Amino acid sequence: MATAVIRSTGLWTPEHSITNDELVTAFNAYVAQYNAQNADAITRGELEALSPSSAEFIEKASGIQSRYVLDKEGILDVNRMTPHLPLRENTDISILAEMGVKACRQAMERADKTLDDIDGVICAASNMQRAYPAMAIEIQEALGIEDGFGFDMNVACSSATFGIRTAASLIESGGARAILVVNPEICSAHLNWRDRDSHFIFGDVATAILLEREDLGDGGFKILGSRLRTKFSNNIRNNFGFLNRAESADGRGDLGAEAAKDDKLFIQEGRKVFKEVVPMVSDMILDHMGTLGLKPEDMKRVWLHQANINMNLLIAKKVFGREAGGEDAPTILDTYANTSSAGSIIAFHKHSDDLKAGDKGVICSFGAGYSAGSIFVEKLGG
Ligand SMILES: CC(C)(COP(=O)(O)OP(=O)(O)OC[C@H]1O[C@@H](n2cnc3c(N)ncnc32)[C@H](O)[C@@H]1OP(=O)(O)O)[C@@H](O)C(=O)NCCC(=O)NCCS
Repeated sequence: MATAVIRSTGLWTPEHSITNDELVTAFNAYVAQYNAQNADAITRGELEALSPSSAEFIEKASGIQSRYVLDKEGILDVNRMTPHLPLRENTDISILAEMGVKACRQAMERADKTLDDIDGVICAASNMQRAYPAMAIEIQEALGIEDGFGFDMNVACSSATFGIRTAASLIESGGARAILVVNPEICSAHLNWRDRDSHFIFGDVATAILLEREDLGDGGFKILGSRLRTKFSNNIRNNFGFLNRAESADGRGDLGAEAAKDDKLFIQEGRKVFKEVVPMVSDMILDHMGTLGLKPEDMKRVWLHQANINMNLLIAKKVFGREAGGEDAPTILDTYANTSSAGSIIAFHKHSDDLKAGDKGVICSFGAGYSAGSIFVEKLGG
């Protein structure tokens, strides 16, 4: 059987960034406006007054200091609080595909590969902007891969690791020579920027991973083993979907109060997620490490999903069997926030060039589903 390697990665970052202070100023202006407009109902006890957010809380609870977004103005506009992403014609490239293409091109340049070397595109992300045609096929078309295939897959925040495993399997079984796994994430469009508990969580980005059959090139990271796990949970959920229209009383999608419910956007029980996912992920990594005959001291680095710095420090401590942080488990959520499937790949992209041949690490994602994936890798020479 052939061996698949991660030859390179690509990263595209939006130019706009929002600091916690900017975000909290806009949120608190919305809270003041809401409370003033609803003062009578609040006094009568019919509505609850909204509480302000705080930049100190956000950084302490999550480690997030700022986030990149496609449109800063729409998010900070108190009367909109949603990015403004103008509708594109069907003849124009979709915004999700456009971001993905930029990340793919960088991955191809970094691996010195041309279109002729690539057989497939897997778009693995939390939110596709439509059901079909597949975003992956549009990315394939925009890149110019004539003779190949593309398909979409969604395993929420674990999409990238599940995508890597899928691509590696296709390469190992002879179904492809090289595949681009691309993770374009427009989290700003499914985040409820009016929700105090979660308005600070997400950012936008696109990453790409180029996997190739080992004998077709040099360098990169050999995949030592991969493990995928899921366990159903309602603690991270988004009920937006094609059934919303059919569920409505008038059949036109007007759900009245239903449509306005927050569950058509991202919702979570953050504290429960924190408590349940930390043991699930650390046990999975440790068990997988044992199966591969590796010990904590054999591990150079863990590139973890980027949702919460405190979660990551706990997981890293369990994996390394000692206090771990800094370059052991690089953090990028301070400036990117949670970018769903892309988080662990950004960490890998920015913090793997310094590794030496033979160094080992694990790329690990976790999130809604629940889902978790671990990809153990070893740096190759060349
Ligand atoms: C979301 C998260 C940062 C919240 O941190 P937390 O420490 O659990 O905070 P809690 O929600 O328990 O709230 C703690 C307090 O802060 C308050 N609070 C919540 N949001 C606040 C905000 N924006 N500003 C100020 N205070 C806030 C709460 O009201 C609560 O107050 P109380 O103690 O008086 O009741 C954290 O739970 C988390 O990251 N969980 C993991 C999420 C995850 O990985 N999700 C995967 C998504 S893909």
